[in-house]
Amino acid sequence: MQLLDGKKTAASIKDEIKQTVDAIKLQKKRVPHLAAILVGDSTASKTYINNKIKSCKEVGFKSTLLHLEKDITENELIAQINNLNNDNSIDGFIVQLPLPKHINEERVLLSITPEKDVDGFHPINLGKMMIGLPAFISATPKGIVEILKRYNIQTSGKHCVVVGRSNIVGTPISILLGKKSEAGNATVTLCHSHTKDLKTYTLQADIIIAATGKPNLITADMVKDGVVIIDVGINRIDDNSERGYHLVGDVDFKNVSKKSSYITPVPGGVGLMTVASLLQNTLAAYQAAYYPKDFIEENLL
Ligand code: GUN
Repeated sequence: MQLLDGKKTAASIKDEIKQTVDAIKLQKKRVPHLAAILVGDSTASKTYINNKIKSCKEVGFKSTLLHLEKDITENELIAQINNLNNDNSIDGFIVQLPLPKHINEERVLLSITPEKDVDGFHPINLGKMMIGLPAFISATPKGIVEILKRYNIQTSGKHCVVVGRSNIVGTPISILLGKKSEAGNATVTLCHSHTKDLKTYTLQADIIIAATGKPNLITADMVKDGVVIIDVGINRIDDNSERGYHLVGDVDFKNVSKKSSYITPVPGGVGLMTVASLLQNTLAAYQAAYYPKDFIEENLL
């Protein structure tokens, strides 16, 4: 069994980004700038956002955090988003999810201009990704593809079983793995909460992507020898430690790792790749890589 080390891989990606930023600074140009909106005080969301802001600092990006009250109205939030849409000093921004229940997430995500949508959640970016046009790909699927590539794990002709069909992870990664592309060309099965006898499918998998948010859902009896495991779950389990909890994935790591050829740990796997992908997307937004300026002016303004 070999660990797919998200910490090491994310550190290499950040290093590459930092080198690009250092070159930008040498040319005395402005550096890439990511903004993040956090609504309310969820501890988990605050941790995620702080990691993103800290990572910006590490690579030399500018970052701005807008921390808004949990009872902000939907229209007030959208007004803040419009400010960021129109602020030329900001290359890309994210709205940390989930949002409080009184806010319509769909409407909020639609109000983010696609060329600044570095989370890749806007339907324009999802649609472009679907048909293979350059687009912001959401951070977790992008991170999964990247870690597979960097460990030279072949996907072509392999059977990938994706468990979980969220808009953020399961659905986009199932599309990416099946595409005619590097880290694609796989035969993909998408399993979800209505799948009958999940084990029938996972036992056939060369690669399993587990993204359900259900702790230890994938057990050793459900996988074949030599399987590649990508565990996207980050589940908090309460305990008596000083912190009061520890993290586990969707996969029973202790037992499944004994049968797998490669496996991502939790923590230290996909989670860290996600932040690295967000930084890559922000750099791409700065470079107008997916939306050349003339395209933006002609089609989106
Ligand atoms: N909540 C959980 N994952 C994500 C993510 O990748 N981006 C944002 N904005 N919110 C999240």
